[in-house]
Amino acid sequence: MLADTYPYYLANRPVAANAALDVLDKYSGEVAARCAMGDAAAVEAAIAAAARAAGPMRAFRPYQRQAVLDHCVARFRQRAEELALALCVEAGKPIRDARGEVARLIETFRVASEEAVRIGGETINLEISARTRGYRGFWKRVPLGPCSFITPFNFPLNLVAHKVAPAIAAGCPFVLKPAAKTPLGALIVGEILAETDLPEGAFSILPLSNEDAAPLIEDERIRLLSFTGGLVGWDFKARAGKKKVTLELGGNAACIVDGDQAGRLDAVVERLVFGAFYQSGQSCISVQRILAHASLYGTLRDRLVERVAGLVAGDPRNEETFIGPMIDEAAAERLEGWIRAAVQGGARLLAGGERRRNMLTPAVLEDVPGDAELARQEAFGPVVVLERFDDFDDALARVNASDFGLQAGVFTNDLGRSMRAWDELEVGGVVINDVPSFRVDNMPYGGVKDSGLGREGVRYAIEDMSETRLLVVRD
Ligand code: SIN
Repeated sequence: MLADTYPYYLANRPVAANAALDVLDKYSGEVAARCAMGDAAAVEAAIAAAARAAGPMRAFRPYQRQAVLDHCVARFRQRAEELALALCVEAGKPIRDARGEVARLIETFRVASEEAVRIGGETINLEISARTRGYRGFWKRVPLGPCSFITPFNFPLNLVAHKVAPAIAAGCPFVLKPAAKTPLGALIVGEILAETDLPEGAFSILPLSNEDAAPLIEDERIRLLSFTGGLVGWDFKARAGKKKVTLELGGNAACIVDGDQAGRLDAVVERLVFGAFYQSGQSCISVQRILAHASLYGTLRDRLVERVAGLVAGDPRNEETFIGPMIDEAAAERLEGWIRAAVQGGARLLAGGERRRNMLTPAVLEDVPGDAELARQEAFGPVVVLERFDDFDDALARVNASDFGLQAGVFTNDLGRSMRAWDELEVGGVVINDVPSFRVDNMPYGGVKDSGLGREGVRYAIEDMSETRLLVVRD
């Protein structure tokens, strides 16, 4: 059961300041819960508390940080069904996907718990010439200090986990602004963190308007801004001053299906359907472009269209539902407009693309003009575009002909081509024999080009949230 109202968390404590934020059930459109909304004064208090907590968090020992993370893991397990329901309601996420996200939340905190006691350093040999004889060198990681986190609506738990769990492991206080459309998951995480003995001020979780959130980007007491969301992240970076910035800004992920896949096309199509349409395509690594070898293009297209027509759409609470609503009507309308514009430009719509409020039926298109938004921008919805290729290297070049570069998938049996894809594709990660939508929460994850800066994946986020401190000793 969800609560009627949720407080925000300021310096580790719940504050039921108001109930100003309505959280809608994305399927019914009704108000599902109300949340306290922070304001400029709450942001200032949260940043000041985080700055005061930097020392105590640094002194909070690795085994103590681990105990906090272990407590979270245990409590997430106990409250797993409630967390899944929160996602299902606030994000319209089909319940099976919502449960999968809760499982990933637990894994991410579990990995962070392990990493918390693994953060170390190195001995360096400084005796590289007669000049440095008798000098010894060492380095270790020290926590960076207060961090600010801004997270999107599409993974209200796991993308929060990818910032919060490494921050605790690294020993950094933080202020988190969850997406205003989906704050419930983060606020339940806050409730669980408030049960721990984290030093006072170690965390604040505040739903905020974009205006009130400005200090999270600009304030010099914050040492790192980690943002997941749209291209506006580049503007944030320009405003961020001296702080470190990590950005995960999405993409229009491509998946190549090589000519040697004819014998296992059903299995490939199954993964493509998942990659393109799970949680209605609202993932930064959802498959948006499929490049299929000409020898199997027609068969793949027909099987894909047939399979997509059978996807169950509707109430995300229903165990059978695969396609739920998009986050709001404006998002569905935008994507419907992009589909129409592509068709006017000469594309063929092979399936779907019909909208009722924020429900959009899964769409498959081919012959989409290269300059169409569907080909160039991030669709972030249930749509996939098919292209055929004759030459593998040409397919690689076409994947790279994008402003984005987050992950790419390649189905091939050929080791040489796999390595060429790894060498040549301008992306943060290449997935061989699966869709680019595959992610395990301990792998380095992030993009190049417009897709972002830096890597998440617990260990890699900890590296960003800490700095190297050197010790030199002269004998
Ligand atoms: C994202 O959409 O940014 C993250 C995808 C994932 O964690 O699976």
